[in-house]
Amino acid sequence: MAKIQNSKQHNLILGIETSCDETAAAVISGGDTILSNVIWSQVAIHHPYGGVVPELASRKHMEKIVPVVEKALADAGADSESIHGVAVTCGPGLVGALLVGLSFAKAFAYTTGLPLTGVNHLQGHIAAIYLEPDPPSFPFVALLVSGGHTNLYYVAGPMEFEHMGQTRDDAAGEAFDKVAKLLGLGYPGGMVIDELSQQGDPERIRFPRVFLDKNGFDFSFSGLKTAVARYVQGEKTDSGSIPDIAAGFQEAVVDVLVHKGISAAKAKGCRHIALVGGVASNSRLRERIRQEGEAAGITVHIPSPELCTDNAAMIAVVGYHQLSKGARSSLDLDAYSKTSHSGRLGVVRRHSGKDIIAPFL
Ligand code: KG4
Ligand code: ZN
Repeated sequence: MAKIQNSKQHNLILGIETSCDETAAAVISGGDTILSNVIWSQVAIHHPYGGVVPELASRKHMEKIVPVVEKALADAGADSESIHGVAVTCGPGLVGALLVGLSFAKAFAYTTGLPLTGVNHLQGHIAAIYLEPDPPSFPFVALLVSGGHTNLYYVAGPMEFEHMGQTRDDAAGEAFDKVAKLLGLGYPGGMVIDELSQQGDPERIRFPRVFLDKNGFDFSFSGLKTAVARYVQGEKTDSGSIPDIAAGFQEAVVDVLVHKGISAAKAKGCRHIALVGGVASNSRLRERIRQEGEAAGITVHIPSPELCTDNAAMIAVVGYHQLSKGARSSLDLDAYSKTSHSGRLGVVRRHSGKDIIAPFL
């Protein structure tokens, strides 16, 4: 087995991601440069069912994992000889789907003698920002908004997180998907609502903004989803009013996310925010948080849209940092469906008088 001494020895990392409905593999160099980034989306497979069917997702990952990894290596001009380490998502996500990537990564690492490291998917979303040309300097606040999570973190270093808040019910992306479904817009919902809202009036229908405790950093989106459902049931909605409903809903989500994100940065005295996760590709959210960040003297960093949604390059970045610290996983590494400690990224330890979350390894 290859021994890891320092970061130079594991410069090229193969990342593998199969936590949900994307089969993805990527090769990155030096922890911040993408050499290849292959994503095989299963959207067309799940579309007729209005959501991700876990069993179908696992089967498609099994079909696609080998060609996707082969393409990632070929696009990067790499092979198992030139790669220095393998990083694979081990949770949170659909366990059956995760196990496909995990089993492949273990077999690859075992047969090549390469070091393996298991990566937390949420940490991957945050690390996507390090692939951009102008990443935030530490410390910064990360607002992670995806299909399964809406979390706020204080990020003190590449592997150091303090959990500040999270949703108490639906994730923001989940709300987008559910509202799209009840408006008959299909799956996945976020992008359709984003596009349709551009033809709607965000002020015509004012849906509730749930801020919970004004000074706290938890979120709640299930009441908003219910308000949209009640509106649709109670009013005579024709297809002409759908863009206004979509825009009104989107504006309510964006108002809350922007307010909480900027307040969290102010509370921590941070001059930088990273907006990450699938919902960070929303055009209105990107526009509004940049505007309000600028007004507050806070620089907002957002990955390009293809690095906001699930990909393996972000997983490889975390793998790079973990392997640089000698954090290898053994071949009995397991998949997990949920992040423990209520969305925290790892175990709590004290650091300069603060609770800092060290990642799960
Ligand atoms: O991060 P991601 O790819 O997967 C998870 O880890 O969950 O996020 C997927 C979520 C879905 O809920 C999808 O509807 C949402 O991100 N999403 C969007 C947009 N693009 C994707 N939500 C709002 N606007 C978008 N443009
Ligand atoms: Zn994700």
